Amino acid sequence: MAERAGKAAGKSSTKDDTPLGPTGRPYHGFATPPVLDSHGPARIIALCNQKGGVGKTTTTINLAASLAAYGRKVLAVDFDPQGALSAGLGIHTHDAPTIYDLLLDTKRDPRDAIVHTSVEGLDVMPANIDLSAAEVHLVNEVARETILARVLRNITAEYDVILIDCQPSLGLLTVNALTASHGVLIPLECEFFALRGVALLIETIDKVRDRLNPSITLDGVLATMYDPRTLHSREVLERVVEAFGDDVLETVIGRTVKFPDASVSGMPITEFAPEHAAAQAYLRLARELVARGAVA
Ligand SMILES: Nc1ncnc2c1ncn2[C@@H]1O[C@H](COP(=O)(O)OP(=O)(O)OP(=O)(O)O)[C@@H](O)[C@H]1O
Ligand SMILES: [Mg+2]
Repeated sequence: MAERAGKAAGKSSTKDDTPLGPTGRPYHGFATPPVLDSHGPARIIALCNQKGGVGKTTTTINLAASLAAYGRKVLAVDFDPQGALSAGLGIHTHDAPTIYDLLLDTKRDPRDAIVHTSVEGLDVMPANIDLSAAEVHLVNEVARETILARVLRNITAEYDVILIDCQPSLGLLTVNALTASHGVLIPLECEFFALRGVALLIETIDKVRDRLNPSITLDGVLATMYDPRTLHSREVLERVVEAFGDDVLETVIGRTVKFPDASVSGMPITEFAPEHAAAQAYLRLARELVARGAVA
């Protein structure tokens, strides 16, 4: 354990002297993604974990901004009634249409609710507390699990990637997100109970694959809030790697107060503190996902 933990802390290296990253695998920088000549159709990725506070929203915002920085056209969908994604990107919905209005009227033009952000190439479909009523309204709808898929169908041609920030539950909204998605990304906080409940999440994804969306794939498990100084954090990451193997993304997001600071300012960290290690980590995550083929 001590030896592996040492490796996990990046203290060891491979035979050819490539340093090992925090996941215990060789640490790659990943090449800058090629410039795209044309845009769309989008690959849709849900960021999902029913455990609260694991970094879903932070990852959606900063991965979206990082992909936009590499010239991708990105839509971030706020699918949580808390509206943290919208607020984190400085968007206040007031009386403007939100995703809730689109779910209730799938014939409505989704562009009505899309807002451009200050980040070039990054648009948002915002949400607010209205969305908390959606589950009640949708429960009696025909094909109630495919409503978000129908909303997004009309705009996939305009984006390279659509990221859906799910709420911390496995209810009907999350099932809609999984049904609409090509892939799912699971952020896991490097904390003691990180793996608790993950079996249920995987079971839910398997059920959605079985019954609603046969081609959905697990695009990766992302370790967040990692603190290499604590043995605890390193051991949790080691256990996550034991459980998920190569599905664990090489990029690991460190714990830093820069994230709450950036949220308060309504900016992605790539704009708020572009030189900070945390901004660089999300840019690397974007490059890794392109290298893995999860994003164009
Ligand atoms: N790498 C990090 N280091 C330190 N703090 C972080 C990090 N990532 C996120 N946070 C902070 O942790 C809190 C929870 O993060 P976030 O809102 O992204 O999680 P979430 O999974 O979307 O939560 P919820 O389940 O409530 O929607 C926020 O205050 C955020 O600023
Ligand atoms: Mg959130």
